[in-house]
Amino acid sequence: MPDALDALVTAERPKLLYLVPNFQNPTGRTLPLARRRAVAEVAARRGLWVVEDDPYGELRFSGEPVQWIAGCAGAEDRTVLLSSFSKVMAPGLRLGWLRGPAALRRACVIAKQAADLHTSTVDQAAAARYLADRDLDAHLATVRDAYRLRRDALLAGLADALPVGSSWNRPDGGMFLWARLPSGHDATALLKQAVAHHVAYVPGAPFFAGRPDPATMRLSFTTHSPEEIAVGLTRLAKAFA
Ligand SMILES: Cc1ncc(COP(=O)(O)O)c(C=O)c1O
Repeated sequence: MPDALDALVTAERPKLLYLVPNFQNPTGRTLPLARRRAVAEVAARRGLWVVEDDPYGELRFSGEPVQWIAGCAGAEDRTVLLSSFSKVMAPGLRLGWLRGPAALRRACVIAKQAADLHTSTVDQAAAARYLADRDLDAHLATVRDAYRLRRDALLAGLADALPVGSSWNRPDGGMFLWARLPSGHDATALLKQAVAHHVAYVPGAPFFAGRPDPATMRLSFTTHSPEEIAVGLTRLAKAFA
């Protein structure tokens, strides 16, 4: 929340704010435009750098795209926008890019060199070849259509799979949604039962910076077909029964 952000920045004096505004990992949540503008305003007023990490933004399959924070008033010259081929081409490449203020670029190059000298030139050449020979936009259209069906398959079966009183969101893109079991449930403990039924999810607790909510979980919908997702949900229902 922008007000809470302002108070936190005043108290802690951080130099940099890191955000994943589109289909965030792990919640699948997207920051609405009004909040992006408010974040940009706080950043400008308090002199914060913003790192806007956007590996999932191209994976939107419903609703309208929301403008980057980098494009909001006040944030233009203080935002580093990151993205990656990991979610749209091949995760094994671990190749990404950065768009930032010119004044920051040299420092970024030095930091990258200090971290790993450089990204594999062979992998970079492979990605360049892929971009030259293939139509990435067409590939993305295929992926979006497939992921939309998979998200819908997960949403369609969740009410029957999770205990009564559970809640979850409905992301317009990305790779996962965020669910909460009724209070008193511990998703980390229940994972053993799920795995015994040959289905898995990611417990939410390790994602919390502060006190975790043990009832939360991240459910991915990208790897399996709608039919497989339906089978997985039947197994989850048995595990939680
Ligand atoms: C928010 C976020 N940023 C970055 C990455 C990874 O990007 P890369 O494979 O380019 O390191 C992920 C997931 O793998 C992610 O969830």
